[in-house]
Parts: sequence; structure tokens; C-alpha cells
Amino acid sequence: MKNYSKSVSFCRFARSYSILEKFVFKDTLEKARFACLDSISEAKKILLLGEGDGRFLEKLTSINKNCQITVLDASPIMLGLAKEKVPVTFQGKIHFCEEDVTIFPFACEAFDVVVSHFFLDCFTEETLTALLKNISSTLHPGGKWLIADFVEPSLDTIRSINQFISLRILYVFFRLICGIEAHKVVSPNKMLKAHGLHESHCISFSKGLLKSLIYIKQA
Ligand SMILES: C[S@@+](CC[C@H](N)C(=O)[O-])C[C@H]1O[C@@H](n2cnc3c(N)ncnc32)[C@H](O)[C@@H]1O
Repeated sequence: MKNYSKSVSFCRFARSYSILEKFVFKDTLEKARFACLDSISEAKKILLLGEGDGRFLEKLTSINKNCQITVLDASPIMLGLAKEKVPVTFQGKIHFCEEDVTIFPFACEAFDVVVSHFFLDCFTEETLTALLKNISSTLHPGGKWLIADFVEPSLDTIRSINQFISLRILYVFFRLICGIEAHKVVSPNKMLKAHGLHESHCISFSKGLLKSLIYIKQA
């Protein structure tokens, strides 16, 4: 892998990632992560971006046993953990790529599904502008993009102020421990719309702090 910023790494955090997540969020992130999984049970070519420790891959390969999956993540430890989770019953193909998504040469219309859970929130608006354009182009017309992520609170209620503070603490943690560039969640909605994708499904969790979304690319 070339050019991946040495200061960004989820490796030191990879093995404790799921334990810390459950400690802080209980099962809420899991619910958001798997909320739209059934919608891709028949998909053939699937791209998992920033898959992390493989919890989504594990469920996907147990309900969709014959698909072709590309798992792209910059962390070799996360990729190793993901490999261990593939059930023996899976009969499809998986290609594990240790790559930096920001410089990856995505092939045009190569996938019918893209999944990016708790991943786009690692990047600034500037990075996302280029990234979302490239990822959109790798999706077939009519294809689906599944996104589970945090949402920046509106700051109009006491609850939303508390959510805002929790999110700031989370960002300080990920900036210090993993070196992510972002300070806040940038909604991908406008950028995806500009690339011909529209939101077809949205489920909210934790009083709006999290969303699980399906975008469809115009056919
Ligand atoms: C917050 S974790 C999310 C993991 C998982 N998708 C989930 O649902 O929890 C972000 C993941 O993205 C990967 N990542 C971060 N920046 C990346 C980049 N530029 N290229 C590829 N992977 C990256 C990290 O290694 C990590 O596994």
C-alpha cells in the first residue's frame, strides 16, 4: 500500500474495538450496522469499505453465501481479524485489500453494492468530495450504497447538546488514538445526490444520533 498517511492507524485499537464499542454504546452501533443487511442478501458483487474487524462481513457471508466480496481497509490487523470471521459455509470469493481508500483506483461500475459503515465520518469534507465521486463511479447504475453513521446533532434541545458533547469526545479519542483527520461528521447526502444517488431508506437510532441509510444510484 502506497501513500497511506503514517499518522492514521486503527491497528493499535483493532483488537479492543468491539469491546470498547459495546462498553460505550451497548448494542446500538450493532443495530445500525446490520439494519439494512437483508437488502443485500441477493447481491452479487459487494465492496466493503473500511470494514474494520469483520463483524459485518461475518453476517453478510452467512446470509449471502455465493457472492463476490472486496474488503478494503488500510489496517492489516483489522483485515486479519475480518479474515478469521468468514464462516466455513461461505462458498463465494473474498478479496482482501490492504489499501488507502483515498488513492485506490476504483474501476468504473464494478460493484452492485457498496457498504461503508462508520467509515465516512473519518474524513473531512475536502477528502469526501473526491472520495464520494470515486466510490459513486464504482457502483453500477441501480446499485445500492449502505451507510451507517453518526449524525451531527442540531443543538436545539438539551438532549442534542449532550449528544454533541458525546460526539466531540468521540472525535478527540479517534483523532488522538487513530489519527483521523476529521473533527465532525460531514453529511454525504448533498455530494451523493450530485453523483446521481438518492436516499431510499433511513432508520434512526439513539434519538437521531445514528442513522442507517440506503442510497440507490440512478439507473
Ligand atoms: C471506525 S472504523 C469502522 C469499522 C467498521 N466499518 C464498523 O462498522 O465499525 C474505520 C475503519 O476504516 C479504516 N480506514 C480508515 N481510514 C482509511 C483509509 N484511508 N483507507 C482505508 N481504510 C481506512 C480503518 O482501518 C478502520 O478499520
